[in-house]
Amino acid sequence: MKEKIVIVGAGGFGREVEWLLNRVNRFNILGYIDDNIIKGTQITDLNVIGNIDDISKLDDEINIVIAIGNSITRKKIVEKIKKIKKVKFPNIIDPSVIIDEKFLKGEGNIICAGTIATVNIKINNFNIINLDCTIGHDVEVKDFVTIYPSVNISGNVILNNCIEIGTGTQIIQGKVINENSIIGAGSVVIRDIESNVTAVGVPTRILQK
Ligand SMILES: CC(C)(COP(=O)(O)OP(=O)(O)OC[C@H]1O[C@@H](n2cnc3c(N)ncnc32)[C@H](O)[C@@H]1OP(=O)(O)O)[C@@H](O)C(=O)NCCC(=O)NCCS
Repeated sequence: MKEKIVIVGAGGFGREVEWLLNRVNRFNILGYIDDNIIKGTQITDLNVIGNIDDISKLDDEINIVIAIGNSITRKKIVEKIKKIKKVKFPNIIDPSVIIDEKFLKGEGNIICAGTIATVNIKINNFNIINLDCTIGHDVEVKDFVTIYPSVNISGNVILNNCIEIGTGTQIIQGKVINENSIIGAGSVVIRDIESNVTAVGVPTRILQK
């Protein structure tokens, strides 16, 4: 029998995660959870079945996937759910992904179609690796990292907690991106990036606040 799952986040990425779950074909998807959309609203063939507080009413074996790209928001939601109820956060990996799953020791990771990850990679918890990314040898992806589509990450790069990497970005080998920073779409990272900044361009420059 298929395991039950709900998708938190009924936006565009939520619908992509529904598509991904159907490709994975391991789960019975009950519907969406969203704090900003009225219960009963139809999203696809599935409806919004409640808000985050309603997770407490779901059965004990429930699986949850957090389909929210914003790293900080995703972290807050996971922390809230963990206070409300003990649930399972499975890793959801598209069947087309090339990865050695022994590198995925944590929980709550989503890896979308077309991504290739090579050797000795560490991927911790609640990361999203969107469509068509490449991840080279010895890369470390810590927690709550969001990598948007078509990002190329060279060997020995370290991606620290709660960073977001815009679509089409390239990162050369050995660079470190520190906590809570955002890399703009189409950037080329050739230096380490400090924490709590937004960096854009080729090569990246830090946007002044
Ligand atoms: C970097 C980013 C977060 C900045 O957003 P923002 O804080 O709202 O910044 P603004 O749009 O006000 O732009 C500020 C400046 O940065 C520049 N800029 C913004 N994004 C840039 C990018 N990706 N590359 C180069 N320059 C960029 C703007 O031209 C502007 O420059 P100016 O001050 O000289 O006019 C956003 O532009 C971005 O690239 N996000 C990634 C989105 C993405 O990959 N989505 C994938 C969804 S699946």
